[in-house]
Amino acid sequence: MSEVAKLVVGENTYELPILEGSEGERAIDISKLRAQSGLITLDPGFANTGSCQSSITFINGEEGILRYRGYPIEELAEKSSFLETSYLVLNGELPTAAELARFEEEITLHTLIHEDVRHMYQAFPLKAHPMAVVSALVGSLATLYQDELDPLNPEHVQLQVRRLIAKLPTICAWAYKYSVGHPFVYPRNDLGYAENILHMMFANPAETYEVHPAVAKAIDTLLILHADHEQNCSTSTMRLVGSSHSNLFASASAAIGALWGPLHGGANQAVIEMLTEIAAEGLSGREYLDRVKDDPNTRLMGFGHRVYKNYDPRAKVLKGMTREVLEAIGQSTPLLDIAMQLEEVALSDDYFVKRRLYPNVDFYSGIIYQAIGIPVNMFTVFFALGRMPGWIAHWLEMHADPAARIGRPRQIYTGATQRPYQDLSSRG
Ligand code: ACO
Repeated sequence: MSEVAKLVVGENTYELPILEGSEGERAIDISKLRAQSGLITLDPGFANTGSCQSSITFINGEEGILRYRGYPIEELAEKSSFLETSYLVLNGELPTAAELARFEEEITLHTLIHEDVRHMYQAFPLKAHPMAVVSALVGSLATLYQDELDPLNPEHVQLQVRRLIAKLPTICAWAYKYSVGHPFVYPRNDLGYAENILHMMFANPAETYEVHPAVAKAIDTLLILHADHEQNCSTSTMRLVGSSHSNLFASASAAIGALWGPLHGGANQAVIEMLTEIAAEGLSGREYLDRVKDDPNTRLMGFGHRVYKNYDPRAKVLKGMTREVLEAIGQSTPLLDIAMQLEEVALSDDYFVKRRLYPNVDFYSGIIYQAIGIPVNMFTVFFALGRMPGWIAHWLEMHADPAARIGRPRQIYTGATQRPYQDLSSRG
């Protein structure tokens, strides 16, 4: 018999199966516990709860390891392209040359968005945050393909997955164009995925925009680094919404909303704001860290992670890349020196060492985006662009899993016990 855990509650002992993953991670399966004992488990923030079995991404937070489908993130960042990595994340294997060419062509076919969507931008205030616009417009794609939205129909799903990955850069770039009052620039299908986003953001009808190869490569690498990260807040949102058999666009729209928060994808924007504030006030790294330690409401943004208790491997790639990109495009920024100084002081400071707080992916990514000319409120939009294949892969994996059920956690109720309704006139 396979290994079991024993839970003793009063006079009763419950046997719970132990599952083991391919990298040796072990879990106690409590799915039958309530039926057997009437007990639930309580785990605020799901910090120690596995919500599914997944074969997409492996993270070892203690050792700082991240692999998509078994391939180390460092190798993918160096050797792969974003669309190839997307194929890998979605399908489980690296594509052959013919499979990659077909996938790239399929994505290219769908880059235009319906002109009705174009008119929807006008409904938003000019100052609308692009994450709100992108989330709304991704959700609105469901209105255009109402007869092809069945999440259990492989043909519908195949088509919508390609549409979503293809149209997202156009939707995102146009959110930026709208916010600055510039005319929308249509996609060019002779450009690569990263180049096309930059073209749609920075070209205009009067002028072409020559995409610097170092900039296109940097954006492509940033997208690869963000492509998946197992059961994080936005991916869990994607799965939870999809678990009710809601369509792909509704699920992705909700995931974008979850990503927007400053404790998740919004941290890259928060990091640049923090570094800019430090530069403006002329603070040293030490002075800012003291402020973080003294004020429970101030955090060192871009530091700490629920899973990584070591250097985030994505931050390591980005740290190496940042100076290279700046040099290639002939830029410099004081924010990089401030970030490096903050990191150095934090990594030898007792407070951060004891809590095992290291730079995460957001610590350096904003500096690269800013050097490229991406406005701060678009940083998290780029995170969403990168994460889309991961969200979709999880959504597909969930639907293919015979054990999948609608997501519905329980709770321990702590409110008032039953009491009679009081008439308004008798309430004190
Ligand atoms: N600065 C200062 N202290 C911190 C930080 C930080 N960045 N992060 C955690 N801590 C402290 C907490 O105050 C807490 O201290 P305590 O034990 O004395 O109360 C301890 O470290 C543990 O922190 P939690 O908030 O319990 O850790 P949790 O796993 O819930 O949160 C999170 C992780 C949200 C990422 C947190 O580290 C944080 O807020 N970081 C800053 C925001 C950020 O960079 N987010 C991006 C995450 S990566 C991503 O989503 C792509």
